[in-house]
Amino acid sequence: MIGKDIRVAAKFLAEGQVVGIPTETVYGLAGNALREESVLRIFEVKNRPHFDPLIVHVRSVEEMQKYAVSIPDKLLMLARSCMPGPLTLLLQKKEIIPDLVTSGSARVALRIPAHPMTLALLNELDFPLAAPSANPFGYISPTTAKHVDNQLGDKIPYILDGGPCQVGLESTIAGMEDDRVVIYRKGGLEVEKIEQILGEKVLVKPHSSSKPEAPGMLTLHYAPRKQMVLADAHFDWGHAVAEKDVCYLRFKTYVPGLEKEKQRVLSPSGDIHEAARNLFRHMRELDELPCRVIFAESLPAEGLGLAINDRLGRASAGAFDKNRD
Ligand code: TXA
Ligand code: MG
Repeated sequence: MIGKDIRVAAKFLAEGQVVGIPTETVYGLAGNALREESVLRIFEVKNRPHFDPLIVHVRSVEEMQKYAVSIPDKLLMLARSCMPGPLTLLLQKKEIIPDLVTSGSARVALRIPAHPMTLALLNELDFPLAAPSANPFGYISPTTAKHVDNQLGDKIPYILDGGPCQVGLESTIAGMEDDRVVIYRKGGLEVEKIEQILGEKVLVKPHSSSKPEAPGMLTLHYAPRKQMVLADAHFDWGHAVAEKDVCYLRFKTYVPGLEKEKQRVLSPSGDIHEAARNLFRHMRELDELPCRVIFAESLPAEGLGLAINDRLGRASAGAFDKNRD
């Protein structure tokens, strides 16, 4: 059921059940992070392997100290200026966080979602919320309550509807290695902004599919069921039009000479934030169209464009594996 009642969501969560929750990035599939049966239920509903750990959502930086041994100065600086917001920090975990949540890792991922309903929900609860994106494992993240309902509605009792997500891309994941801030997943908070706050360069780890540090780094991820092809700047769109059975995901303009129904434009004005907000919804819509292949245009490689290109790249990498959900 989709609804807007925070107390109903709180009641189900207090019972140990899992519910859909809105955040500024994408919708989450939330459960009591301190209760193993709830965490297990999240993995089960999402059909997610247990080696892929969950982000724990809390209501304040002070609350983070309950679950992390300490917050290194540089990460605290980021927390103070960017939280609540699309940032997740990997921190040494305290005992109270079950190993199941971190897949056995000594670090826990903590984040404060910038959504008034979910912050109000966290205030009603006396436990933090473990929440991965509320999609079946490997599929496109949901940015509306309806997206969650379409795929998981029959498995969960409630989806808290907070409207369409304002950022539209998952949080940026950061941690420390030695004295250096490392980005493990590009996301809704730009790397440039992080570097500006810190006054120094960070290390952006290229994703790998073997032994991932953060399995959001898995190459095969965020993928539609259709084959997706990521087109670079030299791609011949004119030639592509001649092909049947294809649809298009474009940045600012429609491909001329082709039906608009088979195309989605992320932001006609070229606004990268609008493009991010529309990305997953458009990918889902194209995935429903009667065509075989999605050609996607890559975006200028800066700011959120880097995170968007990352998602498009992974969606293309996973395109041939039809059984990954
Ligand atoms: O914006 C977001 O981060 C959304 C909303 C719902 O908060 N959540 C989200 O969760 O994207 P999920 O599970 O779809 O992606 C979280 C990523 C995963 O790739 C996971 O491997 C990584 O974070 N992660 C979580 N805990 C970790 C840990 N302890 N160590 C390393 N990576 C971790
Ligand atoms: Mg996810």
